[in-house]
Parts: sequence; C-alpha cells; structure tokens
Amino acid sequence: MKYVGDEAGPAPPLQRVEPDPAEARRLFAFLMRQVELWLRCDRIHGDLSAYNILYRQGRLTVIDFPQAVDPRANPHAYDLVARDIANVARYFGRFGVPAEPDRLADRLWTRLLRADW
Ligand SMILES: Nc1ncnc2c1ncn2[C@@H]1O[C@H](COP(=O)(O)OP(=O)(O)OP(=O)(O)O)[C@@H](O)[C@H]1O
Ligand SMILES: [Mg+2]
Repeated sequence: MKYVGDEAGPAPPLQRVEPDPAEARRLFAFLMRQVELWLRCDRIHGDLSAYNILYRQGRLTVIDFPQAVDPRANPHAYDLVARDIANVARYFGRFGVPAEPDRLADRLWTRLLRADW
C-alpha cells in the first residue's frame, strides 16, 4: 500500500476529522460502497473504524487489513461485518448522518448469500 500523507506526516485518521453534514453523508456513502465491494471480493475488513481510515484532501483510504476475513469461510463473518458497519455508522452519527447499521448489514448479507450484486 502506498504512503498517504505528506512530508509533515501521515494523513490523520478520520477519528480526528470533523466533517460537516454534507461531507459526512458523502464519506459514509463511499465507505458503505467499499464494504459492499470488499464483500463482492469475499473480504470483510474486520477492524473497520474511524481509527483505521485516513482522511486526506476529501478522500479516504482504509488501512490495517491484516485481520480481514473471508465471509464464506469465517463463522463469525456476519458479526464482523455488522460490527464494521456499526463502528462507521456511530462515527458518522456524530456528524448528523442517520443510519440503520443493522439493516445495512442485513441487506448486504442477503445479497452476499444470493450473490445478488
Ligand atoms: N498507508 C499509510 N500511509 C500513511 N500512514 C499510514 C499508512 N498505514 C498506516 N499508517 C500510519 O500508521 C498508523 C497505524 O496504522 P495501522 O492502523 O495500520 O496499524 P495498527 O496495527 O492498528 O497500529 P496502531 O495500534 O497504532 O493503531 C496510522 O494511524 C497511520 O498514522
Ligand atoms: Mg489500526
């Protein structure tokens, strides 16, 4: 993975960023799309949170994948993806983004089982 940052240091984790509501909505939608794309590739991050997402110039880079799991092989896969989504939704809730993380997780899981992308 390439370095995200500049000479002064790495890009800050999202945890240290305070997006306005419109930016927050955009970033949350982007991240949910990433979770979906990873699932389509049989990957769940497994430690997704605002600490493992770097923010730079309006763009997000998710880091820290070593514990990623295969949703079709890991018996805890549903709980892991639901927790990933809940962590991200909790952060964005602070910036006015309404989300129903359990519903989002259920919907993605159903699509995974049906391979309905
Ligand atoms: N691709 C990258 N570009 C720039 N900085 C990075 C990158 N990957 C990691 N870092 C820096 O290292 C920090 C920790 O990275 P990471 O989350 O991958 O490790 P970790 O094992 O969770 O360590 P920690 O216990 O410190 O969270 C990040 O917050 C960031 O400052
Ligand atoms: Mg980390």
